[in-house]
Amino acid sequence: MKKAIVYYSYSGNTKTIVDMIKEKVSADVYEIKPKTPYSTDYDEVVDLGQDEVNSNTLREIEDIDINLDSYDTIILATPV
Ligand SMILES: Cc1cc2nc3c(=O)[nH]c(=O)nc-3n(C[C@H](O)[C@H](O)[C@H](O)COP(=O)(O)O)c2cc1C
Repeated sequence: MKKAIVYYSYSGNTKTIVDMIKEKVSADVYEIKPKTPYSTDYDEVVDLGQDEVNSNTLREIEDIDINLDSYDTIILATPV
């Protein structure tokens, strides 16, 4: 069973969890990167995140070289 982990991490917590999963599970790891990174100012990011949700805006991300069909399981990990 081939597995992929696709993740985004703003400040590193999700990345830490991904690294922990990687210790238990054999998987290829792909990072989601916004084309325009979020501000390093936490309060600004929280406000902007809310604005993006309210306006149904999807931030553009860098292309990821992944063939989804080649995986049986895809683990998606993101901040909440
Ligand atoms: C777009 C965006 C919106 C966010 N909105 C909130 C929020 O509304 N409330 C909050 O407590 N944290 C918010 N955060 C911060 C995340 O909860 C924080 O990044 C957390 O550490 C998640 O894991 P990470 O370290 O992998 O990014 C937001 C982060 C991003 C990138």
